[in-house]
Amino acid sequence: LRTRADFEAMDAKDPLRCRRDRFALPDGLVYLDGNSLGALPKATAAVLQEVVQQEWGRDLITSWNRHGWIDLPRRVGAAIARLIGAGPDEVVVTDSISINLFKLACAALRLRPGRRVVLSERGGFPTDLYMIQGLSELMDGRVELRLVAADELEAALDADVALLMLNHVDYRSGRLLDMGRLTRAAHEAGALVLFDLAHSAGALPVELRAHDVDLAVGCGYKYLNGGPGAPAFLFVAARLQEAMRQPLSGWFGHAAPFAFEEAYRPAAGVARFLSGTPPILSLRALEAGLETFDGVDPGALREKSMRLTQLFIELIEERCAGFGLDVASPRDPKRRGSHVAVRHAEGHAVSKALIARGVIGDFRAPDLMRFGFAPLYNRYVDVFDSVEAMHAILSTNAWKDAVFQHRESVT
Ligand SMILES: Cc1ncc(COP(=O)(O)O)c(C=O)c1O
Repeated sequence: LRTRADFEAMDAKDPLRCRRDRFALPDGLVYLDGNSLGALPKATAAVLQEVVQQEWGRDLITSWNRHGWIDLPRRVGAAIARLIGAGPDEVVVTDSISINLFKLACAALRLRPGRRVVLSERGGFPTDLYMIQGLSELMDGRVELRLVAADELEAALDADVALLMLNHVDYRSGRLLDMGRLTRAAHEAGALVLFDLAHSAGALPVELRAHDVDLAVGCGYKYLNGGPGAPAFLFVAARLQEAMRQPLSGWFGHAAPFAFEEAYRPAAGVARFLSGTPPILSLRALEAGLETFDGVDPGALREKSMRLTQLFIELIEERCAGFGLDVASPRDPKRRGSHVAVRHAEGHAVSKALIARGVIGDFRAPDLMRFGFAPLYNRYVDVFDSVEAMHAILSTNAWKDAVFQHRESVT
């Protein structure tokens, strides 16, 4: 049987071991929720202090030019581009995933006149589906959201489909889709493809250009460590940018925002997908979050992530057998993102009992506990300690305590 010392030995040999020092993680806490909110980088507080006191406080509005605030959506976009296999001029940081999806879906539909369907997977992240539902209402039903099971996607790609919209990694199970295959299938059917990278950007190497992906969105607050409410990003392949028009045509996406012309003219390139004034404090925090990736080999990141999740699955099954747990993530690490979902009938109470013992994961209704392994800062001992905590809670029925039965508004 494996002991804690075995896991300590793996940490000692981990080439990414020192990265954890870049994060301000509380002692004694096992943080397995970087797939929901990334940990705080140590550098972020100083960056924010500087922006607030020097740039905002002292230099005030002159900072838009003097400190390059105006360039931040592009600059931070270029930093994200490196993590997702995109060119520096193909990514911009702005708004939320929800808003970006709306903009990109509208633009995609306009590029495919005569086609009215947005095809997606049943059970995909709700906001993605809600945004297309809203668009369909706005268009009086001239846009249709078609939902099918994951293994029926290719068969459902008919001549009505304008856009195939997919979650690269499923937010519940952690299943990783084959980006290359699905992109080829969409293109063969004459459709565009959009990937939501919320659970893959920063967790595994994403190759948008190599796979010829058209569009993508992702968020800044999970594996990119940008902080709560960090702005999202969007990607538009360079070959499509000039032909695309988005509906939220605000002044920051205008060709000459400070000419104050009456008529909208889209900016050149990806900047046309901006709408309003960017959130400077949040952009600077996201930029600091992205610096935690500097010099990291994406292959090493993926290797460690696959090992962490694999060990967690093996140990859960070994140590917690007979307690009603069921691993709901793919067994093959190549088909999995960086989190593991574990089903338990009382998953919500168990998840709260874990948090009370210092193991932070999260819960997705009706019965899934999720454990995210951020390879930049999670350790092999985190696998051991979290499974030991799980064993302690299940073997003593500690989760039955009344304090763990109450549902919080955020799970
Ligand atoms: C796959 C996916 N898409 C979108 C979102 C959220 O998007 P937004 O930035 O609009 O809040 C999440 C949040 O967890 C998500 O997991």
